[in-house]
This record gives sequence, structure tokens and C-alpha cells, in this order.
Amino acid sequence: MFTVNAPVKELIELDHKIFLQKIYCPEIASIVQPGQFLNVKVSNSYYPLLRRPFSVCDVEGDYIYLMFNILGEGTKLLAAKKINEPVDILGPLGNGFTSEGDYNTAVIVGGGLGAAPFPFLIKRLTDKKEVMTFIGGRSIHDVITYGMKNLFTSTDDGTTGFKGNVVALLKHKISELKKSKIKIPLKEFSLENDFDCEVSTECAMACGFGICQGCPIESTNHKDKYLLVCKDGPVFNIKDVEL
Ligand SMILES: Cc1cc2nc3c(=O)[nH]c(=O)nc-3n(C[C@H](O)[C@H](O)[C@H](O)COP(=O)(O)OP(=O)(O)OC[C@H]3O[C@@H](n4cnc5c(N)ncnc54)[C@H](O)[C@@H]3O)c2cc1C
Ligand code: FES
Repeated sequence: MFTVNAPVKELIELDHKIFLQKIYCPEIASIVQPGQFLNVKVSNSYYPLLRRPFSVCDVEGDYIYLMFNILGEGTKLLAAKKINEPVDILGPLGNGFTSEGDYNTAVIVGGGLGAAPFPFLIKRLTDKKEVMTFIGGRSIHDVITYGMKNLFTSTDDGTTGFKGNVVALLKHKISELKKSKIKIPLKEFSLENDFDCEVSTECAMACGFGICQGCPIESTNHKDKYLLVCKDGPVFNIKDVEL
């Protein structure tokens, strides 16, 4: 884990008001794994006080990419960074997705900005596995296509792709393939169909590495009633957490 002042090199606006920020950061680029995140101090002052967590969206050589839209003060300040202005980054944090294993096809499912870690994950998987990607959003502008592969899309309002949520799309597609009936939601679906399923979780965070105890998620294991999203996750086996 490093604390780095890493210069912003580019801010790319994707065609749907979602930004990619390219940052020169060889220390983190060389070791980060898909699914891990960074805790970013978005300003040099005490406001906002807390760092903001962001998944590493992509890595190219010595550069890392973050993906975000502007939700509040933190992302507004991050998007306003000038070229070569340093951004204070703590990371890489948390654990990553399992990309190795005895399986042929990785099925990747996400909604909105939940797709942020996937370009990096897909890049790592592509040589070894088949990849199918299912991305949903409220409407066409919330569907992220950057870095996706073998992509199926859904929107709540039907403006692009399947009309409905992304898990309904996944079920529809798999039932087409298996000619069987399947039910909602993802956890139940993966258990019923005996899929290994990892899920990347989100919650408000302060420290980002297990000290403040501020990011609990309920465990399905009664001995450890709570796990920490930042330290034990953000990627969990779906069987291990209550969602
Ligand atoms: C492990 C982890 C990885 C993350 N990766 C990414 C990423 O790659 N890209 C990205 O855009 N975001 C990501 N997030 C969420 C990101 O940290 C928040 O979007 C960010 O904190 C918003 O900061 P802000 O200061 O702009 O908004 P705030 O001022 O903190 O909040 C503004 C508004 O946004 C809402 N909001 C804040 N956080 C979230 C959230 N997580 N989901 C929905 N609404 C929220 C608040 O309720 C409020 O209404 C991640 C979160 C975690 C825990
Ligand atoms: S954010 Fe501090 S323990 Fe997780």
C-alpha cells in the first residue's frame, strides 16, 4: 500500500457524462489487481475531510484510470483537477476478483458506475477465458460500454438493449441458452444454478484499510457477524455476505 501524489494526465469525457481520469502512477499500476480500489483525497484542504474510494478502472503501463460521474463535492473537485496537478492517492486497497480458476467463461454483471472495475478485469481475463458482459443502467446514458467485451445491455426505460434490470437480462439470456426458467435476484440465481459468484460491494468509507471499523457488511458466517468492505472486500464470494 502506498500514499502517492500522482499527477493527473488527462480527463476524458465518455459520451454519457461519465469521466475517465488518467493518472501517472507507476507504483500502483505495477501491483494493483482488478477489483482493488484507491482512497483518494480530492482536495488539499480539510474539506471534504474524508477520502473517496474509487475502483481502478484500467491500467496501461505506468498509468491508472479512474471512472466516475459527478455526484457530489468530491467527484466535482476530482474532475476539476488540472493536467499535471497531483492527486493524493492511498492504495491499492482491498482485495480483487479471482481471475484464475477451473472455468471457461467469466460472466460479468454490473449496473451504472458499478461497471467501473470491469475494463481492467476484462483485460486480465481475455487471454485465458471467454468473457460475457451484462451491463444495465436507468437509461441509455447510464450504460457503460467502455472496455467491455461481448456485451449485452439493459435499461430500465428500454432506451437501449433489453427492457428491465440487468439481472433479468442475465436470466433471460441464460434461460435462452439453457431453456430453463430462472428467478431473481443475483444471489439466489447463482446459488440455484451453482455458479461461483463474486460480488464487488460499496459503502461509505473513512480510512479504507480496516482501522475505523466504519464499513461493516453483514456476514453469513455467524462467528464473524460483520466483515469490513474495505479490508475483507470490496470483492466477496456472494455466499459469504448478506446482500
Ligand atoms: C470500494 C468502492 C469503490 C468505488 N468505486 C467507484 C468508482 O470506480 N467510480 C465511482 O464513480 N464511484 C465509486 N465509488 C463510490 C464513490 O466513492 C462515490 O461515488 C463518491 O464517494 C461520491 O463522492 P462525492 O464526494 O462526489 O459525493 P458525496 O458528496 O459523498 O455524495 C453526493 C451524493 O452522492 C451520493 N453517493 C455518494 N456515494 C454514493 C455511492 N457509492 N452510490 C450512490 N450514491 C452515492 C450521496 O448519497 C449524495 O447524495 C466506490 C465506492 C467504494 C466503497
Ligand atoms: S473504511 Fe475504515 S474500516 Fe473500512
